[in-house]
Amino acid sequence: MRRRVAILISGSGSNMVRLIESMAGDHPGVAALAVSNNPEAAGLTKAEALGVPVAIVSHKGRPKAEFEAELDAVLRDARIEVICLAGFMRVLSAGFVARWTGKILNIHPSLLPLFKGLDTHAQALASGMAVHGCTVHLVTPALDDGPILGQAVIPIRRGDTPDRLAARLLPLEHRLYPAVLRGFLEGVAEKTVILEG
Ligand code: GAR
Repeated sequence: MRRRVAILISGSGSNMVRLIESMAGDHPGVAALAVSNNPEAAGLTKAEALGVPVAIVSHKGRPKAEFEAELDAVLRDARIEVICLAGFMRVLSAGFVARWTGKILNIHPSLLPLFKGLDTHAQALASGMAVHGCTVHLVTPALDDGPILGQAVIPIRRGDTPDRLAARLLPLEHRLYPAVLRGFLEGVAEKTVILEG
């Protein structure tokens, strides 16, 4: 049985598009739902164009517990088994995460455990490191923590800016996340590694 996967977004949804496109043919997952907390997210129309049902669960002007209760209900109504956070810019509470233990994946634009939180490209540049990257990990209650499932690495070059790093990293995110999701659904224990340049 193919596992029913939901993808949670807040913005452009480019990682979501790659995940949806990857779940074709004999893939062990099926893209069953795209959810955005932001009604304006450009990714919503992209999901619809790809034939994936969409839902909007707004976080605005309401308690977090109420937002998460609706999100949980929407996911359970759609019989979701695995959740992929893809540019979903809300921090999920420990209570929500506990209800989905081991079933939520996230992509974060840094080589975790370095540079959690926001402005990861600026953080990497300021660190003086020679490499940067992105990580797909299982979500646990602590922010940008949890077991690492795969990472992609790029060199930091002279003259790089946060925007240039983000632009060079995004195509690797698009390769990494589908590869990790497939391995996760197939029960592959080996971590996925992508090295560029
Ligand atoms: C991606 O770079 C993703 O790694 C990042 O947001 C971007 C979403 O782009 N996620 C985070 O910063 C999570 N804290 P997309 O909407 O085009 O996939």
